[in-house]
Order: sequence, then C-alpha cells, then structure tokens
Amino acid sequence: MASAKRKRVLVLCALPYTNAVPHVGNIVGSHLPADVFARYCRLKGYETLFVGAADENGTPTEVAALELGISPKELTDTLYRVHRDIYAWFGISYDNFTRTSTPIHHKTTQEFFLEIYRKGFVSEGILRLPFCEKDGIFLPDRYVQGTCPVCGYELARGDQCEKCSTLLDPEQLVSPRCKIDGSVPVWRDSEQLFLELGKVQGTLERWIREKKDWKGQVTSLALGWLKEGLKKRSITRDLRWGVPVPLKEFGGKVFYVWFDAPIGYLSATKEWAEATGSPDYWKKFWVEDTEIYNFLGKDNIPFHTIFWPGMLFAHGGLNLPHDVVGLQFCNYEGDKISKSHNWGVFCESVPDVGLDPDIWRYYLINIIPETKDTDFKWEDFKSKVNNELVANVGNFVHRTTTFAWNNFDGAVTLSKRSKDDEELLAKVSALAADVEKLLGEVRLRDALSKVLSVADLGNEFFQRTQPWKLVKEDRDRCEQVIHTCLTVCETVAVLLQPFLPGSSERILSSLGSSSGSFDVVGNERKSIRLSTKPEIPFRKLEDSDVARAKALATKSRPVKDYFS
Ligand code: 2FM
Ligand code: ZN
Repeated sequence: MASAKRKRVLVLCALPYTNAVPHVGNIVGSHLPADVFARYCRLKGYETLFVGAADENGTPTEVAALELGISPKELTDTLYRVHRDIYAWFGISYDNFTRTSTPIHHKTTQEFFLEIYRKGFVSEGILRLPFCEKDGIFLPDRYVQGTCPVCGYELARGDQCEKCSTLLDPEQLVSPRCKIDGSVPVWRDSEQLFLELGKVQGTLERWIREKKDWKGQVTSLALGWLKEGLKKRSITRDLRWGVPVPLKEFGGKVFYVWFDAPIGYLSATKEWAEATGSPDYWKKFWVEDTEIYNFLGKDNIPFHTIFWPGMLFAHGGLNLPHDVVGLQFCNYEGDKISKSHNWGVFCESVPDVGLDPDIWRYYLINIIPETKDTDFKWEDFKSKVNNELVANVGNFVHRTTTFAWNNFDGAVTLSKRSKDDEELLAKVSALAADVEKLLGEVRLRDALSKVLSVADLGNEFFQRTQPWKLVKEDRDRCEQVIHTCLTVCETVAVLLQPFLPGSSERILSSLGSSSGSFDVVGNERKSIRLSTKPEIPFRKLEDSDVARAKALATKSRPVKDYFS
C-alpha cells in the first residue's frame, strides 16, 4: 500500500498544435525532456502522472484546414494520430495523450470559464481584428503579412517581424495582406470577453518572486512582463472551430485557443482518471499536494508564467506549476529548422532510417536546449553515438558480460571484496547519487553525462585489474572483479532507464536483473547469472548509416500528402 507520504508529481508537456507534423526540434524542446523527467519520477517511486494533448482548436487549425481545403475535423483527426504515433515511437511515455476536441475538454473549459466569470475576473470589451472578406474569417495575427514599420522588411508577420524581431500588432503593418490569399484585410470591431489579468498582478508577482530555483531566463522573462503591467487579454474569438462560450449573449463565439489549451492539462488528467475508473482521482494532482512540472519552449514561457497561472489564481483551488521548465530552441546544422525550406530532421521520416529509437534519444538528449539554443549536426550525431554510447557504455557492458560468459559460464558469486572493489563501488554509488540529484533538478544533460562517468570508472577498473590475466593466476580474485564489474553494469543500466528505456531494459534482462530502483550498489545480488549469451548493446554507426539517416530523415512530408 502507498504510504501517505509518497510524493506526487504531475508532468505536463506543452500541447502541440495539430496543424503540422513535429520535427526533432519539437521533440527535444519539450516532449523528450518531459519524458526523461517523468521516467525518473516513476523510478524514484513517486506517484507520477504524465499527460498531454493535441492543441486542436482555434485559428491555427482553422487556417491550416482552409489552406488544405479540408475541414478542421478531418485535419485534426489525421494529425492527432500522426502526433500520437510519433511520440510513441520516440518512447515518450505519456499516461494519456489526448485531444482538445474531446467532450470532457469542452466541458472542463466551460466550467473553468464560468468559475472565473462568476468570480468577477472576466469583462466585456471591443477587440479590433483583421478580417479576410474572401475567406470569411478573422485572421490570426501571424496570418497578416505586410511591410515592417521599423525595418521595412516586406514579409513581416502581424505578430512579429522576423527580420528585426520587433513585436508587432497586425494593425502596425504597412500594406497588410492576408497570408492565405493575398487580399487586403478589413478591420472589424467585435465584442469579446477579456480576462482581467491586472487583478492578479500582485499575486502573480509574489508567486514568481518566491520561485528561487526556476531557471533564470524563465523568471526574468516573467518579471519583465509584470514590470510592464498586465493588461486585460481577450479570451474569445469569432470562429466556429473551438470550445463554445457558454453564455447566451456570446453564442456563436468560441474561446481563444490560448485560453482553452492550458485547460487541456486539467482535462487530460480528468480523462485519465475516468479511464482508470476513479473519476475524482484528478483532484489528487490538482487539488491535493502535488508538484506540477511544465515543459515547454521559450516562446511559450509568457503563457505559462503569466497567463495560465493568472487563470489559475482567478479560478482558485487548483495547483499552480511548481516548475516551469522553459527550454530554448534547437536548430539544424546552424540554421533555424524550417519545414517550408525543408531544413531539419523530420519525425515522420525518422523511423524509416531503421535505427533504434534509443540511438536518437541518446543524441537528442545531448542537445536538449536547457540553457541555450543548440544545434543538431550529423557529424556530432555520429561522434556522440560512437565515441560515447558505443565506445564507453556499450564497450564496458559488452566486455564484462562476454568475459563472464566465456570464463564463468555467465554466473559469478560474491565471496569477498577487496579494498579496490569497495573503493570503486563507493565512487559509483556517489556518482549514482549525483545522477539522481541532477535529474531531480531537471539538469538532464548533466545527469546523462554522469552516467557515462560511471561506465568510464568501470572501464578503467577492468583495464587496471586485467581479469584476462587474473583468470589464469587467481581465479577467485577474478570472480570478485567480474562480480564488481557486473554490479557496475547493472548500475549503469538502471541509471540509463530514464534516458534509454529500451536499451536499459535489454541490458538489465541480460544481466538477469529486474531492478526498478536506483540503489543497486548496497543492494547488489550475491549471485549474478546472465540470462543469455551477451550481444553487443549498441552497434557502431558507419558512414553509410549516417548518410542513409541524412537522406531519409531530412525529407519532410508535406501536410497535404496526408490527405490525398
Ligand atoms: O505553441 C504551441 O505549440 C501551443 N500549441 C502550446 C500550447 S501549450 C498549452 F497547452 F498551454
Ligand atoms: Zn522589421
């Protein structure tokens, strides 16, 4: 039975829009770090839930469907499955990956809204929005294109000039055009609902100032917004595709996608709870003691440090994020990943390469943009996999297990330990504790590199003790050495679990171990028996593998091809 003290963690990943297919930048920028962290929490024995959903509502979907000449439902039905399958392929261990078009999400959003409405956080007002008469829709800011008033760039977007980075309002663009069909938008006033963020300014500010262990870049961005003073923000739109506003006077309007999307965190939890047969269990994560970790890209930081917490404060009674893990961007070979320029590594093509998902995970975890932008580079891919994973971890596990298999029929028993063994195991144990600590601080890259240090120590020990000589000279001592090395192998495999789950499981099962806990050293088995003849844990990448990966995985499949 779970003890009352068991820590509870809710891991959340920013909801991806289903108007495009994810690229590796999306994987390293949120899903993968969230997954590594969730796996770590499970391994620690925390009560862990990891949920996400496809962000299907609002203008991004409506506009993409319009461009493709299909309905938003057709678009999202297909792309939801594409997203779900890609995350599953990369081993992203969502307990529930759902959609924001579900009835439970609509209901949860409407109830959430009614609560903040009743509490006086919602006001009515006028919003001036660009409307495309040709398409008959209000255009999202970034679908208005025109000349930047600051630098004169002719293809500036309505939300931001990509050339000089100035943040813009679509109204500021000189000669604005609709990006879909090039027509000139008209400006229409429309009556909308607004969230009175000003009312929670003080509460938000106090809350953020308390967050001493957040990444500096996250806190400073949030405080920057607060300094400017929070203004009310519109939360409704005149669209058909989305969650309907449950007020008679606002019939025919839906919620702005950024209002309903984060509520998806809540509805995904509720849906999961219903599926487990305890519909009220969601409260454990949202009302009772739980640490909530949000993983997201830097463009989403303001929404997760200001807008969503503001909504939560207005609503009351629900848990706020414990940590907002804001990640930077990952580029491809020195330039921004771009689907339209066919520049990047595209997830839909990655499985075609035929490499184990863990090989990708290994490299991708190495380029998680934890503190600054990173770069996917093929040279680096090959050298990290070959020089670290294969030459270090793979080599240590393989030489140890092969030696045990060939010289001890795959079974060794511990009689006693030398000082040398004890010293090695003490160091391993200390490193394992570091790995745990770093994982707990969401410093995933440093944590992975510490795991490699454990294998390094093992390799050094093997080299120094020379079991191939000992086996002839002192068989007892040789058995002790191999027992020690196998214990280190098991520790490495356990520590790899959150990072490379498939490989870790294979190695553990070949060691005849089913360890599900971090603490191998100190709990090691007296007798270790290999279950099978050792196989190479990780195969070296040849130039031809990399060439093939590059040829296949850098081709993006146009979204329209999914519908023809
Ligand atoms: O930027 C995006 O891709 C958005 N769909 C993220 C939404 S996160 C949310 F759920 F709050
Ligand atoms: Zn500009």
